[in-house]
Amino acid sequence: MTDGQTIAVEVSAIERVTPLIKHFTLRRAEGGPLPAFSGGSHIIVVMRTARRVNRNPYSLLGSPADLDRYEIGVRRMEDSRGGSHFLHDEVAVGDRLEIAHPVNLFPLDKRARKHLLLAGGVGITPFLAQLEDLAVGTAPYELHYSVRSPDHAAFKDRLIAGHGGHVRLYHDSAGEAIDVEGLLSAQPLGTHVYVCGPKGMIDTVIDTARACGWSMSHIHWEQFSAPPVGDAFEVFLERSQRRLSVPPDQSLLEAIEAAGVEVPYLCRGGVCGFCRTRVLDAGDGLLHHDHFLSDAEKSGGKSLMPCVSRARGKHVVLDL
Ligand code: FES
Repeated sequence: MTDGQTIAVEVSAIERVTPLIKHFTLRRAEGGPLPAFSGGSHIIVVMRTARRVNRNPYSLLGSPADLDRYEIGVRRMEDSRGGSHFLHDEVAVGDRLEIAHPVNLFPLDKRARKHLLLAGGVGITPFLAQLEDLAVGTAPYELHYSVRSPDHAAFKDRLIAGHGGHVRLYHDSAGEAIDVEGLLSAQPLGTHVYVCGPKGMIDTVIDTARACGWSMSHIHWEQFSAPPVGDAFEVFLERSQRRLSVPPDQSLLEAIEAAGVEVPYLCRGGVCGFCRTRVLDAGDGLLHHDHFLSDAEKSGGKSLMPCVSRARGKHVVLDL
């Protein structure tokens, strides 16, 4: 995916839905329908600031049947490199943005006899679109949605209005928690479980499902990592014969793109594996932040995902 494939959109509405999350509605700048998508899809939003270009993934939360608009929910990340702050603080109704075509790395499995959805915080966003698909299907479904406190329950009214009988809400502030083991051990055969939320929640659901005998083919999760900030380092691109500096608040992928060298990508969150790049010299080692490479591949140091991973030391040489 490259900039040549982006779509110009206009921000038609912005609504604060919790103290940390804003809801953005985007319409095609030239008018007309946007590309079709299915529940669980995400888009990449391109943010051009005076200093650099950020590209962040956001799940589409609107109805897949309504292609007049795309909707995303953006959580303000305090330790972010600027993407969520840019959308929260600098984007207004009427502004134009670029987005990439939707990609679905978190689809519903149509073979499921039942769908069990578990969401934590802003992890509710991919499920909002999936619920629209589930509401017109025949398989039973239920959503368990855990939030910090009632004022952090993003899109609660939409959930209750559209899917009230299928939704259960849990408030940490009231001592409520999803009984993951109880739920997973009581599902009918053929159920698929989907989880999106904080890393600890995803790990708990995967580990508990495995312990309860679930097949990995029936366990689905979405866990985009925001590129973390880190120490500055240098990268040498062997085939391009380019030497670049990567500052603390820029991802390796962004630095490579800024130099005009293209790397394929889909998720920009360490999940899809598309940006996998061969490492020719790992220097003092690599800081892997992806969810794609195996532990053995990570310790082998022969490849990395530049969308989220960085050099541990002062420099690294890549086969680009
Ligand atoms: S773009 Fe998906 S892992 Fe890097």
